[in-house]
Amino acid sequence: MPEDYIQGLFAERIGGSSFGKSTKIYKFEKIKRAKAEARKASPATELLDFGVGEPDEMAFPIVVEALKHECAKPENRGYADNGITELKEAAARYLEKVYGVSGIDPATEVIHSIGSKPALAMLPDAFINPGDAVLMTVPGYPVMATHTEWNGGRTVKLPLREENGFLPDLDAISQEDLKAAKLLYINYPNNPTGAGATVEFFRKVVEFARRNSIVVVHDAAYAALSFEGKPLSFLSVEGAKEVGIEIHSFSKAFNMTGWRLAFVLGNARVVAAFANVKDNYDSGQFIAIQKAGVYALDHPEITEKIAAKYNRRLKLMVDALTDVGFSAAMPRGSFYLYVGAPKKSKKHGAFASAEDVSEFLIKQAHISTVPWDDEGSYLRFSATFAAKDKEDEYRVVEEMKKRLKALELEF
Ligand SMILES: Cc1ncc(COP(=O)(O)O)c(C=O)c1O
Repeated sequence: MPEDYIQGLFAERIGGSSFGKSTKIYKFEKIKRAKAEARKASPATELLDFGVGEPDEMAFPIVVEALKHECAKPENRGYADNGITELKEAAARYLEKVYGVSGIDPATEVIHSIGSKPALAMLPDAFINPGDAVLMTVPGYPVMATHTEWNGGRTVKLPLREENGFLPDLDAISQEDLKAAKLLYINYPNNPTGAGATVEFFRKVVEFARRNSIVVVHDAAYAALSFEGKPLSFLSVEGAKEVGIEIHSFSKAFNMTGWRLAFVLGNARVVAAFANVKDNYDSGQFIAIQKAGVYALDHPEITEKIAAKYNRRLKLMVDALTDVGFSAAMPRGSFYLYVGAPKKSKKHGAFASAEDVSEFLIKQAHISTVPWDDEGSYLRFSATFAAKDKEDEYRVVEEMKKRLKALELEF
């Protein structure tokens, strides 16, 4: 039978006529398969899942109740377009209360989004012409890079190295890349490293962006989950609003991953351009969800409770992993613990990569992690593992430690 003509029609951005034919297995698929294999091989053994990148709990009951109430109202039924005023106003209030950022104009400097992922996907449409570049920290969340490339642009990788506190070295970027760059993507507290930014770093970013005519996109998905003092917003630094925007998500700060709600705020020109693009992609998040979001924003103590839980769990994890021989330290924020991968195990021999280690841990010890081999070999342990209560958290972490010790890892 001749090949389906549809195969010849796919766009190059998804692989063209080779779409769906690659036999390469990507990291997350490998983890999924290794987990399924481990479960099949010994179904009675509990799988300790430190690999998940989302909260283990549902949204707080008061927010769920707010949604129940709002979704029954006829006035909330229709298209939301570029969002309701109440959410914009609540976002401005929230920035002031939680981050000390005042003076945000809800009408021109805030817009909602159906999660931060779509916002990151759409922003390149507003800026990137063929040949333009995006500066992306690596390792990291790759969505803005993908869409830059889909627009004919290119990605300039800014390595995040431990010796620099996992902050990019902006002075190391070549003149050619600086000339082509229109967007800079940063994310603090950072996924996967857990590193936090400093006010000095953000000041440097503002100055860098101004000097090189670059728009800063600060992905603040984990910003509210901060363990050292008050959470830090890029917009709290003088001049930040002139050079960029920040994206806040309800996913991790309020345990609302599946609800799909975020907001973009900062520079009015950037917000207007994003609104223009967004209006051509979607018709806004369900108004009842936006109104429940307003309720959440007005109750930042929810996030404080969530952060306290991760803080407690991460401390247990740091102690346990240190005991096993890892070099582990409390992250500044997020719910991730990022540690150098072991070099070998008496049960395995030398490892070729963090990916190799991660597969071994799932198969041999039923412990799931996420490996990163971009800049050195690291494993990411997430504090969002399943546990019923505080005692159970302790039990899970102790069990992890026992299993890891038995592997006789060497670093
Ligand atoms: C760094 C980072 N940015 C953005 C997102 C996407 O978040 P949202 O649920 O708001 O789309 C994630 C999700 O894991 C993330 O880790």
